[in-house]
Amino acid sequence: MSNNFWKKLQKNKKPFFALAPMVDVSDAALRQIVTKYGKPDILFTEFVACDGLCSIGKEKLMPLLQFSENERPIVAQLFGSKPENFEESAKLMAELGFDGIDINMGCPQKNIIKQGAGAKLIDNPELAKEIIRATKRGAGDLLVSIKTRIGYKKNEIEKWLPILLEEKPAAITLHGRTQKEMSKVPANWDIIKKGVEIAKGSGVLILGNGDIKNIEEGIKRAEESGVDGVMIGRAIFGNPWLFNNDLAVGVLSIKEKLGVLIEHIELYEKFYGGEERIKPFNLMKKHIGAYVRGFKGAKELRIELMKTENEKETTEILKKYLN
Ligand SMILES: Cc1cc2nc3c(=O)[nH]c(=O)nc-3n(C[C@H](O)[C@H](O)[C@H](O)COP(=O)(O)O)c2cc1C
Repeated sequence: MSNNFWKKLQKNKKPFFALAPMVDVSDAALRQIVTKYGKPDILFTEFVACDGLCSIGKEKLMPLLQFSENERPIVAQLFGSKPENFEESAKLMAELGFDGIDINMGCPQKNIIKQGAGAKLIDNPELAKEIIRATKRGAGDLLVSIKTRIGYKKNEIEKWLPILLEEKPAAITLHGRTQKEMSKVPANWDIIKKGVEIAKGSGVLILGNGDIKNIEEGIKRAEESGVDGVMIGRAIFGNPWLFNNDLAVGVLSIKEKLGVLIEHIELYEKFYGGEERIKPFNLMKKHIGAYVRGFKGAKELRIELMKTENEKETTEILKKYLN
């Protein structure tokens, strides 16, 4: 392999840290902010539909696949249920210059399950295997990884993980819940630890995922479970400093924090706004609500910001507050 960045990560740092793929969250704007203020060891795009990439809808999806050189190593995440579309989409990821391709076998949402995609693939191991093989065929030199859960309706790590290991992906991220559990129960790190034991000697890297709030907790979980890497998702909301342990949010002033929020909003508009708006401004509200927290007057400011409809109104309120 020309660029085995996974092995490099494993060699250089234990555990290494990844920013999780999150639809409409880990987009190019967030990844740029995170890269600047606290870069993790590896980044993932939000998931993109293989079926869409292989249809006339492709042009609409391409903006979701933009990335910058400073984000490397960057992995594109794909979802779907048709091996031929994974193969074709993997070729496209190679052309776009991604470092790797991750297959989503973990999304528990109804609309994805209905398509036979995401976590439904745990319930259909033959198709899952075909998809991995097809993706590898299309990927050329790019390394293929998988993000999955510990089971479909119940924990089936002992059956499911060996099936994936047989296909020799470069890495597997284990989210410590079943599809049925959605996000309703705490992630089970004992089962992730079991996964590490099962994968021992396979050469496949294991990342653990679920409920990690900060680097310290990630290191502790990695020590207990033996995972090579830790993937963090929701804790990034309002905290792009998350992966920069020296800049815990507590040490930053409100001014610095809200200044970065303005920068984040401006980047979002640069990537997804403009005349042919790609994503609605309202998607930024999840981030805004998370940045504006934990200081005197935050609640009132948040309420005011939630009523805005565009970048201009929002940044004006923020700039006025900061003056
Ligand atoms: C808003 C949101 C969007 C998500 N989108 C994706 C996605 O596109 N692909 C994926 O594999 N997982 C997705 N996930 C799951 C996360 O990657 C991660 O597995 C989950 O949030 C648990 O990790 P955490 O407790 O650190 O947040 C999403 C989660 C959230 C909250």
